[in-house]
Amino acid sequence: MHYLTPRLEVRDIQDADWEAMHRVRGDPLVSRYMDFKPATAAETRAWVEECAEHNRARPRFAHLGAIVLRQTGEIIGHIGVGHPDSHLRDIGDRDFGYALRRDCWGRGLMPEAIGGLLCFCFRELKVNSVFAQCAKGNTASARAMAKAGMVFVRELQASAESHEPSRVYIAGAETWEQGQDVIIIAKQDGL
Ligand SMILES: CC(C)(COP(=O)(O)OP(=O)(O)OC[C@H]1O[C@@H](n2cnc3c(N)ncnc32)[C@H](O)[C@@H]1OP(=O)(O)O)[C@@H](O)C(=O)NCCC(=O)NCCS
Repeated sequence: MHYLTPRLEVRDIQDADWEAMHRVRGDPLVSRYMDFKPATAAETRAWVEECAEHNRARPRFAHLGAIVLRQTGEIIGHIGVGHPDSHLRDIGDRDFGYALRRDCWGRGLMPEAIGGLLCFCFRELKVNSVFAQCAKGNTASARAMAKAGMVFVRELQASAESHEPSRVYIAGAETWEQGQDVIIIAKQDGL
């Protein structure tokens, strides 16, 4: 996966990204609503290596991206899309997750990254629908999805993996309207 939005470049996560990614995943406020606890450096390194391995796999089942601020070249977060777990497949074709470094919150950067991801999914992967879920209390995340043009579709009960109910937002290829310039650089390679 490789695309540009006005302020961001999103490209496949590589092994060398782990230190920058640790500034995101090691922060307890970032992980508060995520499916991980604040990561140790070793955990972030292992996670980044696993992402890079998924990105190299062919056939390809996931696109796990680093979010880079174009102005400075810094990695400020991650966003990744793949096939939903089996119990969620009735909701949509692909699902995604994301997180941004804390000092970058509140500037509309994640809605921009999400908009680019949806564009990539619809134009390159040619899927019909893409969804994501956020914990019910994570209003910032719900807002980010809504600002990217996604709509609330249902609530999911708490489960063993997620200890609080979550809200699911979805975008459909037929109805989603793109609100920004997105340039897709990497063409589809086998998802
Ligand atoms: C959720 C998240 C991705 C939002 O990204 P973002 O780029 O900050 O999104 P926006 O700038 O559009 O802000 C979205 C909302 O966040 C809230 N917000 C804004 N600035 C904030 C700040 N400094 N601190 C906390 N929340 C803030 C506001 O409610 C805002 O909505 P509004 O624009 O209608 O006021 C980001 O906060 C984040 O990475 N959080 C931690 C990881 C996470 O929760 N990931 C999602 C898991 S489902």
